[in-house]
Amino acid sequence: MNILILGSGGREHAIAWKLNQSKKLQQLYVAPGNAGTAQIAKNIPIGVNDFASIRAFVLENEVNMVIVGPEDPLVNGIHDYFLEDNDLKAIPVIGPQKMAATLEGSKEFAKEFMMRHDIPTARYESFTSVNVEEGYKFLETLNPPYVLKADGLAAGKGVVILNNLEEAKTELRAMLVDEKFGSASSTVVIEEFLDGIELSVFVLTDGTNYKVLPTAKDYKRIGEGDTGLNTGGMGAISPVPFADETLMHKIEQQIVKPTVEGLKRDNLPYKGFIFIGLIKVGEEPKVIEYNVRLGDPETEVVLPRIKNDLVSLFQAVANGSLDKLDLELDERTTTTVMTVSGGYPGNYEKGKKIKGIESITDSLVFHAGTTLKDGSVVTNGGRVMAITSFGTDFKSALKISYKNVEKLSFEGINYRKDIGFDL
Ligand code: AMP
Ligand code: GLY
Repeated sequence: MNILILGSGGREHAIAWKLNQSKKLQQLYVAPGNAGTAQIAKNIPIGVNDFASIRAFVLENEVNMVIVGPEDPLVNGIHDYFLEDNDLKAIPVIGPQKMAATLEGSKEFAKEFMMRHDIPTARYESFTSVNVEEGYKFLETLNPPYVLKADGLAAGKGVVILNNLEEAKTELRAMLVDEKFGSASSTVVIEEFLDGIELSVFVLTDGTNYKVLPTAKDYKRIGEGDTGLNTGGMGAISPVPFADETLMHKIEQQIVKPTVEGLKRDNLPYKGFIFIGLIKVGEEPKVIEYNVRLGDPETEVVLPRIKNDLVSLFQAVANGSLDKLDLELDERTTTTVMTVSGGYPGNYEKGKKIKGIESITDSLVFHAGTTLKDGSVVTNGGRVMAITSFGTDFKSALKISYKNVEKLSFEGINYRKDIGFDL
């Protein structure tokens, strides 16, 4: 098989690393990829939303399957684009069609989906600029903190949580009337604050059957103790220690099953990953969000724990036979620590030479924002490189990740030293 992966982060490097272990793989391409994917696949300088160039490349190079890493091309309808093209329609795309991708593309759509299918989530109402006043009134019925969510994709910044009612009203106005997040906040979902601990569950579905993949917990804030600005994710752990059998049973029965069945009932074709962001409130799991892809850096801890051949799993997704496969998991714990550029998630410089990669032998190195310049690996983004390790528990795995992170150096390198602090 010739396979094309779309994307350029640590997630895509981890997918490439896993696919590369398959005997079924002939040629692996990544568009656009990074310095890590360049070592195990052929990087193609095509953007993930440039469907016409992707089409030309796929046909010219006899690509047999396309794996979509980030949400953007899915929300923009890349899967539908393939299905609507006579030359492309037989080539499987892993990732949902546009309508189903709206689960991530619109918070309001996701909330309505959960209501329709009785999936536990926070109480909410949604507002536009024509009913700001009603929004204020709804805020007055809630207890602080107040959770305001821009409906559309806002590069992970569209959720604002405020303690003060007046501030919440001002923010609502800024989002709806002053278009703080552009058209992404022309609708705002206000919801009840859920107090609990977060975890993520990943599901692979062929539209009918599904497999619940390993759980993971990521650490989104830049600062230790979960302080400071949100990032894409500074580290992750799998499995989540508190996700015991009882909780997982509830998650599967109350959330995963109704989600997959709901997609089918609503006629929303879905072949790909579902990333369910959850909060455990007391003993009960509730959904905070759906993403229509794998997480980053969660993928860097989830995929190393899956023993199955990933090409075979994707083939089963494509032809609707996931029920014929058994998922085999590595029982060990994996942890990943993300190194980032100095200044991230604010302004940062790129092009810093990365040293010490080759001295890491007992961890997996997944490149995120890296590129090759004059034969050297240099930084090329905010999140630079994730160091994944195995252990009997998360503490022993983290020890190895941190030992190896210390071997890496580039100007301005930063990372969180307290991954797992809350467990
Ligand atoms: P989202 O973009 O929906 O994942 O939201 C970003 C973050 O905001 C989540 O990871 C949670 O930490 C937090 N969050 C979102 N919704 C709620 C809620 N209803 N209650 C408490 N925290 C929330
Ligand atoms: N790490 C969170 C995400 O991928 O959305």
